[in-house]
Amino acid sequence: MCKSAVFLLHGIEEISARINQSLIKQLISTFNRTLLIFGITMTSLFLHGCYYDVEEELYPSTGSSCDTLNVSYAADIVPILQQSCYICHSTGANLGGVTVEGYDEIIVLVEDGRLAGAVNHQSGFSPMPKDASQLDDCSLALINNWINDGALNN
Ligand code: HEC
Repeated sequence: MCKSAVFLLHGIEEISARINQSLIKQLISTFNRTLLIFGITMTSLFLHGCYYDVEEELYPSTGSSCDTLNVSYAADIVPILQQSCYICHSTGANLGGVTVEGYDEIIVLVEDGRLAGAVNHQSGFSPMPKDASQLDDCSLALINNWINDGALNN
């Protein structure tokens, strides 16, 4: 009677020990899975960060801001002229008898082809801006698209 009770107790102990072991195993594998998911998440976040770094390195000056569709005279063209041309071609300066300030003035230069000829450094025209390097690609694309789209006063 007593012997079998001890035997029974041992049996229960052993079973519960096994249950504990498998519980621990389960816990460990759950923990491992969590670690794995965490690792994957962190890696993809890291790669995502690198992706944007690279893009910024590829397009340092323009980024995605060089939008040459639907060019606006007021928002896109005037700022370029102000920065690179007004010093010599504002209404007051009017160097070489050329004014690019004001829509009524510049549309004349668009129609006789002198604006495109000068900024694109075409032969037969004085290359502009005078004594400086040619306008950057984005500014040139904006001016050329604006002209090709009909040089609207938009
Ligand atoms: C440092 C002064 C200076 C700057 C800056 C300058 N120009 Fe001129 N531009 C001149 C002078 C001077 C002339 C007269 C022709 C010559 O001397 O080459 C001229 C002529 C022109 C002409 C007539 C060209 C021709 O062949 O008939 C156009 C168009 C023109 N400029 C547009 C521009 C535009 C657009 C800019 C800005 C992107 C600009 N210029 C910047 C001084 C300048």
